[in-house]
Amino acid sequence: MNEKINKLLIIDDSPKNIQVVANFLQNEGYDLSFATDGKEAMQVLSKETFDLILLDVVMPLIDGFQVCKEISSNANYKDIPILFLTVKTDPESIVKGFESGGVDYITKPFNPYELLARIKTHLRLKSIQKQFKENNAKLIEEVSLRQKAEKQLKNMNVELEYKVKERTKQIYRLAGIIDQLYESVIITNKDGVIEYVNKAFESDSGFKSDEVIGDIPRFLEKGIYSKEFYEEIWSTIRSGKTWSGSFSNTKKDGTPYDEEIMVVPIINHGNEPDGYFSLKRDVSSQKKLEKQLINAQKMEAIGTLAGGIAHDFNNILTAIIGFSEIVKYELEQKNFDCPRINEVLSASNRAKDLVNQILVLSRRNEIEKKPVRVDLVVKEALKLIRSSVPASIEIIQNIDETLGTVNADPSQIHQVVMNLCTNAYQAADREKGRIIIGLSQIKLNGSETPESGLGRGLYLKLTVEDNGKGIDRSIADKIFEPYFTTKRPGEGTGLGLAVVNGIIADIKGSVTVKSDAGNTVFTVLMPYNPQKHETDKSENDIRIPKGNEKVVFLDDEANVADIGKIILESLGYSVKKMTDPVEALNYIKAEKSKIDIVVADYTMPSMTGIDLAEKALDIDPKIRFVISSGIKRFSNEELKSFKNIYGFLKKPFTKKELGTLIRKALDDNK
Ligand SMILES: Nc1ncnc2c1ncn2[C@@H]1O[C@H](COP(=O)(O)OP(=O)(O)OP(=O)(O)O)[C@@H](O)[C@H]1O
Ligand SMILES: [Mg+2]
Repeated sequence: MNEKINKLLIIDDSPKNIQVVANFLQNEGYDLSFATDGKEAMQVLSKETFDLILLDVVMPLIDGFQVCKEISSNANYKDIPILFLTVKTDPESIVKGFESGGVDYITKPFNPYELLARIKTHLRLKSIQKQFKENNAKLIEEVSLRQKAEKQLKNMNVELEYKVKERTKQIYRLAGIIDQLYESVIITNKDGVIEYVNKAFESDSGFKSDEVIGDIPRFLEKGIYSKEFYEEIWSTIRSGKTWSGSFSNTKKDGTPYDEEIMVVPIINHGNEPDGYFSLKRDVSSQKKLEKQLINAQKMEAIGTLAGGIAHDFNNILTAIIGFSEIVKYELEQKNFDCPRINEVLSASNRAKDLVNQILVLSRRNEIEKKPVRVDLVVKEALKLIRSSVPASIEIIQNIDETLGTVNADPSQIHQVVMNLCTNAYQAADREKGRIIIGLSQIKLNGSETPESGLGRGLYLKLTVEDNGKGIDRSIADKIFEPYFTTKRPGEGTGLGLAVVNGIIADIKGSVTVKSDAGNTVFTVLMPYNPQKHETDKSENDIRIPKGNEKVVFLDDEANVADIGKIILESLGYSVKKMTDPVEALNYIKAEKSKIDIVVADYTMPSMTGIDLAEKALDIDPKIRFVISSGIKRFSNEELKSFKNIYGFLKKPFTKKELGTLIRKALDDNK
């Protein structure tokens, strides 16, 4: 296949010289052009493109070597192979021919076939050269493209590395923040399998991360809630929405806790979540606070009610107790035995305790704290318990002699022991009942009972233990609530433990309970002062002191005034009973120096007992006063500021309380 017709330029001053060759070449299919000298050759070259030049050496004006030089130095023609065709055979000319840029040198005479072979060879060489050049150019272009691509790749790599570094930094920063969160964080894959938990999770739940990674969080698993509960969570989060709600969980050590959970789907690619981010918060203490608030509100309501009725109720009780004591005294004087009067007295005393419980709870009853020898109070209370509890119930006492004191109201500590022991007795096994009461001194270093919130220091530890059926877990957190009771109506008011809690909280102690079937232990811790305390002898003296002084007994309740008069007269005093403070003031003015002491009610219509005492100070400063009240309480400290007030009488009062107080007020050297 002859692809292309090659064009040859023959430069010769006499083309006829090579006519034979020209014919031969034309016959071989070459397209020939002619030029007779260098100048013409340049003109022809500028018009047409040639594949090869045959050049004569000997020509007029400029010779072939010159023409060759000119052509091959021209950038447009330098690739055209030039073959000399000449009669000059001397070696110098041959060398010159090659030096001037020729590719071959053929001397005449020559064989046309040899010429043809040479022409063909040079044409082939040229075409190879051309191809080579083209390939080379392509290669260079490819190399440069590749270099460019490599550079781009390198740049992209650098950029990518930078981005990865930045992203890693961000991830570390985020991981740091997540780890520092107070809320627990769980990250799961799309099937709910845990892949990450933060530090708060570990401390809240008690589980280390490697113990839970690979598991499914409890709120996503089947378990304590209904099937619908878990289905609702899954259908919400699978659809890409956030789910939030509450869940009851248990820690590794079995402690139950309430948590609020938010589950956020992580959507990175497409619309389907590829994992879930859960944020959890332990809300047990918040719930506890809510409960406490409700309790506080309940107490507020009880307080208002109690405040309203306690005054009148205590006056009524003063009359009942007072008259019963008088009847008892009169019967005893006549040697008449009537045990039922004791029933009346003990029922009235229970009613008095109940009012007191309500007042303690509502904190309307301002208590007077003083150093109390708790061991003595406990022993005293246990005497009462022993006498009221059937002999079939064993009472074991492990009471250490604790010579130091607790700063409290002794009657309240008495009440704590009574309430706890009463519960223990009511719960104890009917057949082989046993109550163990313990009292000892302990030292806390601040970490033993974190739930009680007590600081380090010395405490008295009172324990009341029974072998009853125990407290069911479901009600364990309710037993301290006021009015919570499992007893039948009429058998319990549900105030006992609420009162214990109130009293002990007030002295900055704690009450805790541990209960299993067959063993329940209530533990009371009270801040303890180990310094030895001398007890007031008169407190233990059972005799009621007497006197013959002149007393005015003033109470707007006629019944109470009557009782005061009768009791004091039975103790030898001469008593004027009065119900109106204005009248009493006039009486004091009239009788002045004859009066030794006035017992005056605090709450009266036109004037308080204290107002009266102040007015009396101007009339006769020697007249002493005792203020009584069924609701308000005055501490000795408060009374010190009044020159002529020597004591406070709490209503309802017993004969012993009134007698002892009057004597003390009369004998006191203030
Ligand atoms: N030692 C105990 N063993 C078993 N359950 C107890 C014990 N102590 C208290 N409880 C439970 O706690 C509840 C509340 O006790 P709390 O003393 O406050 O009231 P109450 O005994 O029912 O009535 P109240 O003391 O006013 O007569 C009780 O009803 C009982 O269910
Ligand atoms: Mg009780």
